[in-house]
Amino acid sequence: MNVSSLNYKSSAAEDTLNVVSKSQDIVQQITKSCEEIVVGNTTLMKELLDNVEKVAHSHAPTVLLQGESGTGKNSIARIIHQKSQRASHPFMEINCASLPETLIESELFGHERGAFTDAKQMKKGLFEMAEGGTLFLDEIAEMTLATQAKLLQAIEGKIFRRVGGTENLKTNVRLITATSVDLKKAVQEKKFREDLYYRLQLITLLVPPLRERIEDIPLLVNYFIHKFNESYKKQISGIRREAEDLMRRYNWPGNVRELKNVIERIAILENQTLIEPAHLPEEIVMSEYESTAPFSIPSGGVTIEEMERCYIREALRKSRGNQCQAARLLGMTRHTLRYRMEKFGMVSENFESHSN
Ligand SMILES: Nc1ncnc2c1ncn2[C@@H]1O[C@H](COP(=O)(O)OP(=O)(O)OP(=O)(O)O)[C@@H](O)[C@H]1O
Ligand SMILES: [Mg+2]
Repeated sequence: MNVSSLNYKSSAAEDTLNVVSKSQDIVQQITKSCEEIVVGNTTLMKELLDNVEKVAHSHAPTVLLQGESGTGKNSIARIIHQKSQRASHPFMEINCASLPETLIESELFGHERGAFTDAKQMKKGLFEMAEGGTLFLDEIAEMTLATQAKLLQAIEGKIFRRVGGTENLKTNVRLITATSVDLKKAVQEKKFREDLYYRLQLITLLVPPLRERIEDIPLLVNYFIHKFNESYKKQISGIRREAEDLMRRYNWPGNVRELKNVIERIAILENQTLIEPAHLPEEIVMSEYESTAPFSIPSGGVTIEEMERCYIREALRKSRGNQCQAARLLGMTRHTLRYRMEKFGMVSENFESHSN
C-alpha cells in the first residue's frame, strides 16, 4: 500500500479553522498511481483500499465495483489496472448506458466489413483493443439481456466473434464492471442474467457513500483545495470550522463528485483565502436547518410564547394529561409546568383523550 502524507501550507488562526496543515497529523491513506488518486482514512476506505491492492495483484479475472454515483468507482477501476501486472497493456472503458444495443456489441466485440450497412471497414472492438490489459464496463446493469449472453460467452470461453464474423478470437482481459444499482435485485427481477451475475460478483468491492464516511470529509476538502489551488492559481489556505460542520451534516447524494464540484466552484469564483459558510451552495447550508429544526417557522413569524404554549399542549396530549410525564418530556419540574399552564390558562383543558 502506498501510504504517504501530503504537505499543506499552514495558516495563522488555527483554532477557529480547519487549516489544511492540520491534516499532517493524520495518517493519510492514499492510493496513488499515475494520475489516479483515491483519498480516504476511515476504516471503510482503508479496508476498501487494502482490497483494491490485493485484487490488483491477484489473477482475479473479474471484479465488480458496487456503489452510488460519484463514490469513485471509475477511479478505483483505473487504480486496479495501474497497480496490476497488466499496467503496461491498455485500459479500455465503456459506459453501457451510453450506447444502443447494436452499437454496444460492435464496440465490445468489433465488426467485420459489411456486417451491417455502415460497416465499411473491419473494426476491432474493446476486447481486442484491451488485449493483455483491463476492460472496464461501467453501468453494467444497463446492458441488454442479449448482450449479456454474449458477454458471458466471452468470459467463460475466453473467446468471442466480431459482429458478422465467423472466426473465434481468443481474449485475455481482466473485466472490471461497475454498477450503482443492486445487481442481485436486478437478477430477481429478471433484468440481469443470474449466470453472468455469479461470474461477475466473484470479487465484489463495495464503494461506500460519502455520508457513511464523513470523517473523510476534512481530508477530501484539503485534497481538493490543494488540487484546485494549483489548477486555478488560488491561495485557499483552509476552511472555517462552521463551514466544515455544515459539510459534515449534509447528506451528499452526489458523493465525492459533489464535494469536488463544491470546492472547484469556490476555487473559481471566490477570492478569499478561507472557505466560509457563505461560499457553500444553498442545499448544504439549508440541510442543516432541515435536519436540526423539529418545527418550521410560519412565514408570518411566531412568538416564543406561542411556541411555548404549543409545546406544552403537545406534551400534555402525548402524556394524556399526566403532568409529571409532560414535565419530564419538556425537561422541567411539575411545579414549573403547573405554573406555566396557569399562566396560559390551560388548567381546565382536557388532554386525557388525546395521544399519538
Ligand atoms: N476518494 C476519492 N479521493 C479523491 N477523489 C475522488 C475520490 N472518490 C471520487 N473522486 C473523484 O470524484 C469524481 C467522481 O468519481 P468517479 O467518476 O470515479 O465516480 P463513480 O462512482 O464512477 O460515479 P458514477 O457512478 O456516476 O460513474 C472523480 O473526479 C474522482 O476523481
Ligand atoms: Mg463511473
